[in-house]
Amino acid sequence: MREPACAIDANAMAAPPQALLERLKDYGQEDAFAFWDELSPDERHLLIKDIESLDLPRIDRIIRCSLRSQALPVAAIEPVPENIVATVDGRTIEDRERWWKMGLKAIRGGKLAVLLLSGGQSGSDPKYMMEEGFRSSNMGLAKAGGDIGLPSGKSLFQLQAERILRVQRLAAEFMSEGSAAVVPIHWYIMTSPFTDEATRKFFESHKYFGLEPDQVTFFQQGTIPCISKDGRFILESPYKVAKSPDGNGGVYMALKYSRLLEDMASRGIKYVDCYGVDNALVRVADPTFLGYFIEQGVAAAAKVVKKAYPQEKVGVFVRRGKGGPLGVVEYSELDPSVASAVNQETGRLRFCWSNVCLHMFTLDLLNTVANELEKDSIYHLAEKKIPSTNGYTMGLKLEQFIFDAFAYSPSTALFEVLREEEFAPVKNANGANFDTPDSARLLLLRLHARWVIAAGGFLTHSVPLYATGVEVSPLCSYMGENLEAICRGRTFHAPCEITF
Ligand code: UD1
Repeated sequence: MREPACAIDANAMAAPPQALLERLKDYGQEDAFAFWDELSPDERHLLIKDIESLDLPRIDRIIRCSLRSQALPVAAIEPVPENIVATVDGRTIEDRERWWKMGLKAIRGGKLAVLLLSGGQSGSDPKYMMEEGFRSSNMGLAKAGGDIGLPSGKSLFQLQAERILRVQRLAAEFMSEGSAAVVPIHWYIMTSPFTDEATRKFFESHKYFGLEPDQVTFFQQGTIPCISKDGRFILESPYKVAKSPDGNGGVYMALKYSRLLEDMASRGIKYVDCYGVDNALVRVADPTFLGYFIEQGVAAAAKVVKKAYPQEKVGVFVRRGKGGPLGVVEYSELDPSVASAVNQETGRLRFCWSNVCLHMFTLDLLNTVANELEKDSIYHLAEKKIPSTNGYTMGLKLEQFIFDAFAYSPSTALFEVLREEEFAPVKNANGANFDTPDSARLLLLRLHARWVIAAGGFLTHSVPLYATGVEVSPLCSYMGENLEAICRGRTFHAPCEITF
């Protein structure tokens, strides 16, 4: 007989430890020991460790509150009033310049942090790829750590890091003669047990893409057991409870428990720009958006784009009840008839403001949300295929969403951006019809081609121009600025990367 991995009570090997069994019974979860008699000593030991690692009272509260919430009436949703959205057309050049300067000043003062949500289950695990049909959270690391076929071969992580470097440089040069000391923008990166090790290694092996290692802080979100419809744990194997990350809204608990809200306060950070990993055009640390946010004096803001078509897999902004707070209804929770309803006056979709997963919060609001969300303990329930002792079982995953924070915000602003400038999602593998690495690459190359032509450059190409373009290194230009000196009068053969 094999020895257990470490010494435990011999009685525990014969029967489940009584105290643990009683605790499980208190929460109706004693089936977690269903396979006990068939387990080897090592496996029994693993099962005990697994169950001991669960905060049973907390998990029980979350399961009960979340299942119960399904039966509660939900506030009717209304479209977001048009005057709440700062539209692209409503913006003057003066507005843009003023916000840009306000944003750079705040960044120079060290008041902005960026927070990357990168805890979606890894695409490297074929189980999860099958389970989710390649939807993005499960490809998170594969996409970000890999590349999307850009001429430079840069990964999404690298593009984001270089945009941060560029904004730091712009902030340093702002209002100073010549070169000034750079104030590092702190980058918090949330991983999960599924992505943590590989993400850290990727950053280390790429020397943090030119950032200072100590300006990057990794932290892990939590996981939570997957459950059956009647709230019982699903066993992934006879000696392991199936768990999944607690959603990108797990960020609030993770920040609290890793004491990173205090860390932010001690650095003098006031504003936190949170975003998803899978947008090749994401404007990380955007000074214009920050300036707008500060001028509005709101606690939360989000960038939005006009929804492209009713079935697009994006959350939409809504108003919850008459005069109620703004919020997001996720695509998976939006009734298809509501998604396709048209406003007869404008001819546009009634719910037309799409979430691009880029939100700005004050640090004060993050503190409030971290406390309130835990008190409410209501998670979204999604029916999914869960790996189980039978191969797969239909069960429920419990998740919080980053945008659940809007319910606690006293004031929220929406900032429209142009899809072709800021939204190139990578949600599906190449070969799918939309939101693939190929489609994101093309969007980026076309945008940068427009920048180069606007700066007086010329393009030649041996493939049709609609199928190619050029790539501008974020180290040269964040949003098309600074390109005249490099591009005017020069001809570039697409596809290629333009750098210093
Ligand atoms: C997300 C938004 C959706 C928006 C769309 C735009 C959420 C919940 N949904 O949908 O409203 O319209 O982006 O592209 O934000 N993540 C974690 N931990 C998790 C799960 C996800 O960190 O447990 C991260 C992912 O790695 C990714 C981001 O959150 O960076 C978005 O999550 P994902 O599951 O990809 O959401 P989408 O379905 O694309």
